[in-house]
Amino acid sequence: MANSYEIAHKQSIEDPNGFWGAVAEDCHWYKKWDKVLDESGKPFFRWFSGGEMNTCYNALDYHIENGRGEQNALIYDSPVTDTIKKYTYIQFRDEVARFAGALAAQGVVKGDRVLIYMPMIPEAVIAMLACARIGAVHSVVFGGFAPKELALRIDDAKPKVIVSASCGIEVARIIAYKPLLDEAIDMAESKPDRCIIKQRPMETAVLIDGRDLDWDAVTAEAEPHDCVPVAATDPLYILYTSGTTGVPKGVVHDNGGHMVALKWTMGAVYNVDAGDVYWAASDVGWVVGHSYIVYGPLLKGCTTVLFEGKPVGTPDAGVFWRVISEHNVKVMFTAPTAFRAIKREDPQAELMKNYDLSKFKALFLAGERLDPDTLKWAENNLNVPVIDHWWQTETGWAIAGNCLGLHHFPVKEGSPTKAAPGWNLQVVDENSTPVTTGEIGSLVAKLPLPPGTLTTLWNNDPGFLAAYLEDFPGYYKTADAGFIDDEGYVFVMSRTDDIINVAGHRLSTGAMEEILCDHPDVAECAVLGVADKLKGQVPVGFMVLNAGVSRDSNKIIEETIQMVRERIGPVASFKTATVVKRLPKTRSGKILRGTIQKIADNTPYKVPATIDDPTILDEIKEALTGIGYAKGEK
Ligand code: COA
Ligand code: AMP
Repeated sequence: MANSYEIAHKQSIEDPNGFWGAVAEDCHWYKKWDKVLDESGKPFFRWFSGGEMNTCYNALDYHIENGRGEQNALIYDSPVTDTIKKYTYIQFRDEVARFAGALAAQGVVKGDRVLIYMPMIPEAVIAMLACARIGAVHSVVFGGFAPKELALRIDDAKPKVIVSASCGIEVARIIAYKPLLDEAIDMAESKPDRCIIKQRPMETAVLIDGRDLDWDAVTAEAEPHDCVPVAATDPLYILYTSGTTGVPKGVVHDNGGHMVALKWTMGAVYNVDAGDVYWAASDVGWVVGHSYIVYGPLLKGCTTVLFEGKPVGTPDAGVFWRVISEHNVKVMFTAPTAFRAIKREDPQAELMKNYDLSKFKALFLAGERLDPDTLKWAENNLNVPVIDHWWQTETGWAIAGNCLGLHHFPVKEGSPTKAAPGWNLQVVDENSTPVTTGEIGSLVAKLPLPPGTLTTLWNNDPGFLAAYLEDFPGYYKTADAGFIDDEGYVFVMSRTDDIINVAGHRLSTGAMEEILCDHPDVAECAVLGVADKLKGQVPVGFMVLNAGVSRDSNKIIEETIQMVRERIGPVASFKTATVVKRLPKTRSGKILRGTIQKIADNTPYKVPATIDDPTILDEIKEALTGIGYAKGEK
């Protein structure tokens, strides 16, 4: 007999209208949809067109009206400031309504963009929900990005208001955000009307007269604002993510489909219910933070944990266990890299013994491939299901996973289990022809994508089509390669583009190459992601210098490292580069990045038949050995 997962998956593919229409009944609508799936603009599919709703209403007010007003909506746990602060649904709704009023007082109306550049403090979540409340479109930018990257996003989204804070805290370091924001606004062509700045006690930002306002002052004066009905198809947020060039892609998620899908995943994927405590240890600047710190748990009526700290060093590798036990966390979600960091500091999980984890029921990991060592360590020490699931900024929720609320399948190492309901996942060759079972190819999803997934790129429909829909007509290109085995288990092996995954953060090596090539002494270069025990991958640069350059090459390397830090930000973790005489290329001039990567990672490689001069590979190996790779210990 078919299990609940199989029934749900089959129905979602064969009858998407029936499946998602029934799921959507669980949400509050001011006006029901005309169509569940609207195919009229194919290949731009829309969900719940004609429907009107409000995401913030469903995430806060709805629960208050249904008896959850005194339940905690959000627990802010900040080991870096030694703070724990809890907000009930009523308290949190009141904060959000007041800040919505403050935004409205600055002229922000439905459809306007508000950029949020904030550390992990409650005000970041309040600002996001306040935008949703008045129908404004938020765009959160991760704090680890440099002013240049922030400026690119300001110019693309053209926000009316920017919300920021005086500083973030990286373990014990205070990172002043305001000077970075000021620099970005100086660089950008599009200028916001206003900046609203939350002053934190550890750093006071200088406010610019006439442009900047103090968060506390504007909220004290503000009238609470009610929820504004929006079309289900109206955008909720834009989240920029690395593309294959230096220009980030503004991924757009809508209101209605996003609400329906995310609320449903809380039960179907994560097996949590209203009233449960759910913790995603990520950052609101990433899609995981949007979906599973903010929207998913609150739409479901859970208590969400906002954690301002790191898995290690704040103060030690036991902090995750402390948070789980202190707040009765039922389900946690983080990236494998966080567990690798803990395992490295506390291999025997001694610190876990200090805490009662009896309420903890499951660990979910995503953001990068889950290595078997980390999976086993977590399983053996936590004694709960450890679930790998695969998704992207574009998809907003899992493409594949072990959907614990539907059926718990046995785990296969290296696989995020099966395609989630809503996902008709296939593996195809370059002609869009399905490959045979078990064979590696491009992982693609047959259109339409389920609700909650990207609807387009901001102001860039042609870019959306080119990036995702054109290579495999009728399918969404995930840009991941992998295979599906004879039991339907999905294996995600690698990206098919230049994206690398550094500590669960998505970065483009192409963007880093553009920066290195801007150095006056660099003739050509290659940046690739090499395996790293902690971060999964780290970028390493290879540079060929211009003829006649006689400067100290270490100095040039230092300068390029600094350039990447200044232009992309510390999040790039670009710390290693080397100068080589030449780069290995095919006879047609294509740099053999894959071969360099295999040498660096000590994986077997064949000398490509098309290589121009095979002796270059020995030079590359020597250069890699010089910077600590290709030796077997990295
Ligand atoms: N604001 C400013 N700077 C930031 C920042 C922020 N919000 N977040 C990170 N940075 C900086 C860090 O301080 C570091 O700077 P440094 O080079 O000067 O030391 C750099 O960006 C790289 O940060 P990170 O990749 O986080 O590395 P780390 O060595 O500080 O920590 C881990 C490593 C594994 C502990 C950390 O990456 C982690 O906790 N990862 C969890 C996974 C995660 O959140 N993934 C998101 C998707 S689920
Ligand atoms: P991001 O958009 O930052 O979430 O990054 C998405 C990319 O991360 C995917 O395209 C994959 O390459 C990778 N990724 C995310 N989750 C997994 C996973 N569970 N297994 C393998 N790769 C993953």
